Amino acid sequence: MRQIKSSSPLKGEITIPGDKSISHRSIMFGALAKGVTSVRHFLEGADCLSTIGCFRQMGIEIQKESDGRILVHGKGIRGLTAPAATLDVGNSGTTTRLISGILSAQNFTSVLSGDASLNSRPMGRIIHPLSMMGAQIKSLRGNDCAPLQIDGRMDLHGIHYDSPVASAQVKSAILLAGLYADRETSVHEPALSRNHTELMLSQFGADLHTEILKDGSAEIRISPCEELYAQDILVPGDISSAAYFIAAALLVPGSEVLIKNVGINETRAGILKVCKDMGADITYLNQNQGAGEPTADLLVRSSSLHGVCIEGTVIPTLIDEIPMIAVLAAFARGQTIIRDAAELKVKETDRIRTVTENLKAMGADVTPTDDGMIIQGGKPLHGAEIHPYMDHRIAMAFAVAGLASEGETTILEEQCVNVSYPGFFEALHTLTV
Ligand code: S3P
Repeated sequence: MRQIKSSSPLKGEITIPGDKSISHRSIMFGALAKGVTSVRHFLEGADCLSTIGCFRQMGIEIQKESDGRILVHGKGIRGLTAPAATLDVGNSGTTTRLISGILSAQNFTSVLSGDASLNSRPMGRIIHPLSMMGAQIKSLRGNDCAPLQIDGRMDLHGIHYDSPVASAQVKSAILLAGLYADRETSVHEPALSRNHTELMLSQFGADLHTEILKDGSAEIRISPCEELYAQDILVPGDISSAAYFIAAALLVPGSEVLIKNVGINETRAGILKVCKDMGADITYLNQNQGAGEPTADLLVRSSSLHGVCIEGTVIPTLIDEIPMIAVLAAFARGQTIIRDAAELKVKETDRIRTVTENLKAMGADVTPTDDGMIIQGGKPLHGAEIHPYMDHRIAMAFAVAGLASEGETTILEEQCVNVSYPGFFEALHTLTV
């Protein structure tokens, strides 16, 4: 457990660990490519280590160099070998869902299983479309959750899938299976979810096309692929991790923090747009396009915020940041409405429940709804005992809430931050002394 006190102004600069989504993909695509993929600024959080562990179990050599680079010795698109034991996906939904697309097309059987939270998250959303492609996936407990047994097949067929959810994990699972299909595969999603798979797979040599339709929905097509080729990847700082420092600097009066080298891909940067709409003082410096993933340094100064309405196609671009945004809203003047975000219920925890429960414990006026929450901001918050239920993003969002509240806040299960941000509390501390 970690004690957080009401803070003096945050000052200084910070470099954020690598993006979790991009780190996962660098290992997966590197494993399927011919040659050695080098990954700089890889996130060594528990989730991405689960991905490394799974590919090692399937015969891929992955090593860390003395300069911090991760080298993935890819064996080509058909080079994976049967794992000797169950693949341990830990707490990682991204590992589970993306790997399932790959495993569906191998010439071996595999079983995937994770921790209690992971094994209760919905997998029907990938089982259904992958089965349409001919995949053989069985939920071993018959509840559409992991453990999953995947009997790989070499004869998948391309489909068009109209996804009911804007989910990058669902989209990516289908696109990865589509690499191995007999014809083109396409996915339509109601709004464009994070597009790291599309950007990075194209860089590795796959043939992908994205079309944004008039109603804001998106269609992504992939052609079958003979071979992928190793790449040098530089992972940008994770905007989802930067979110905690952006919020801390905005909320604690007198703060000024420079957050270096943050990924600002439009499909991820919804929090920056919402913060601006709330009246935040954020300046972009050193903008850089990089290899397909844009980055910037963010200069954030404390600001007086007001409530906003957050809904529609912006939701997938900030879905992981909603716990932090809800805390910002509790400190902002006026009402904030978050809607169209029912996906929050199937994250590492039901985040509508865990956010509202913990905000209420701190004295906030918040009402959960079916697809989001309504927050009447501006009431002073007080320290409380915070229950993350092992959800990393709840622990970090409420640590920030504690900095801006009266009295002392206790974050239980503080170690859960290791899923995406080992060293989070220490990094926060360096800005507050
Ligand atoms: C992720 C996609 C999102 C996000 C998760 C990472 C990814 O999940 O919440 O943290 O890397 O593809 P969904 O695709 O389920 O929305």
